[in-house]
Amino acid sequence: MFCGLSEDERQQVISAGTLLCAQSGDIVLREGDAGNNLFLILSGSVAVRRFVNDAPRDLLTLQAGQIFGELAFLGGVPRTADVVANTEATILVLSRDAFLRISDAAPTTAFVIMFNVALALCQRLATATDVQTDVLARSEKMKAQQEIDRRRTLSQMVAGVAHEINTPLGIANHAASIVSELARDVAAGRGGRETLDDIMAACRLLQDNVARADRLVQTFKTLSVSQAVDELAMVHLSQLTRDTVDLYRLKARSSKLVLTVLDRFHGDDDEWQGYPGHYAQILLNLLTNVDRYAYPEETGGAVEIEIGRDDRNGASQGFLLVVRDFGRGVSEAESDRIFEPFYTTGRNKGGTGLGLPIVKNLVEESLKGKIAVRSKPGEGFEIRIELPRLVQSAL
Ligand SMILES: Nc1ncnc2c1ncn2[C@@H]1O[C@H](COP(=O)(O)OP(=O)(O)O)[C@@H](O)[C@H]1O
Ligand SMILES: [Mg+2]
Repeated sequence: MFCGLSEDERQQVISAGTLLCAQSGDIVLREGDAGNNLFLILSGSVAVRRFVNDAPRDLLTLQAGQIFGELAFLGGVPRTADVVANTEATILVLSRDAFLRISDAAPTTAFVIMFNVALALCQRLATATDVQTDVLARSEKMKAQQEIDRRRTLSQMVAGVAHEINTPLGIANHAASIVSELARDVAAGRGGRETLDDIMAACRLLQDNVARADRLVQTFKTLSVSQAVDELAMVHLSQLTRDTVDLYRLKARSSKLVLTVLDRFHGDDDEWQGYPGHYAQILLNLLTNVDRYAYPEETGGAVEIEIGRDDRNGASQGFLLVVRDFGRGVSEAESDRIFEPFYTTGRNKGGTGLGLPIVKNLVEESLKGKIAVRSKPGEGFEIRIELPRLVQSAL
């Protein structure tokens, strides 16, 4: 700050200010305080400190000869950070009034001080820009990493599907060759009733396995294609949820599921910008799971579909969709695996193990939301989905 001033002029500035002696650890300035003083460190050092996520972070260290507090001094804005003495420090405090008195008495001195303050400000701005660039680069890197993870998951799924599909196709192939062998016997006049029974059994095996292969392909198609085809739209989430649940009612009736929509919206506060097709697919997948896994076939049971604003953090930022049943639930070990592609306990009931991975993928990638499961054996199964109010277009 004194750069360019004569010894006399320096003394003049020092006598216009007051001296502050700080011990190590003393807080010299607090973030948010009003203030119009400029500080010059004469000896010792201080740290400019800010709280990031409740943890103190030192942004920079200043030494004798450097100034601080210039933003509040020049702009009248509140202090933007804490300043803490790192060591014993002597600091010259120059109030704005004192500065104005100097500028009346010695305009050149005031000008030189101002020039030095501006210089310091420019240097700090440059560092801030560097920090910002650094933060940006890191966030770009994180995004790229997420994209890599997403593709890896997808390619694992592709490889998995190819592998999974091999089994039913192998069985189907085998069954077909049995059929043609037996048919040859029949044509040659060999074999009787028993041979026909064998042919029928082999045909059933053939049908079942072709159907299973087909299911795998269908599920997989929705996984890879749906993301591209659904269009971003503004919809009422309440209506969309009811419509989707209604779609499922017929199926639910035959399996004795009792569906209840718990609608926590008030009036028009349910406007959502997102991909309605994906939302419906998520909901239908979850209902299919309840149908398949929650209750014994003969009895059925209750399913609740709860929707509303997610206002746990005060101001409500998004929406909450909860699908819960009160059926058999899963153990902790199982709940760790349910989002793994091809994990299923229902291979004999038409399960592929792709339902929940698809749901998770749609929630996180397409709707930019979060998904969590809560379940205890015998007490039921609950999926909680948080959705932001607006999904930005991917374009
Ligand atoms: N509502 C539920 N109640 C109990 N278990 C469930 C429920 N939903 C899913 N699960 C378990 O999670 C597994 C994975 O589900 P999912 O990925 O949809 O595959 P799939 O339905 O093809 O088996 C299921 O096989 C089942 O064990
Ligand atoms: Mg499923």
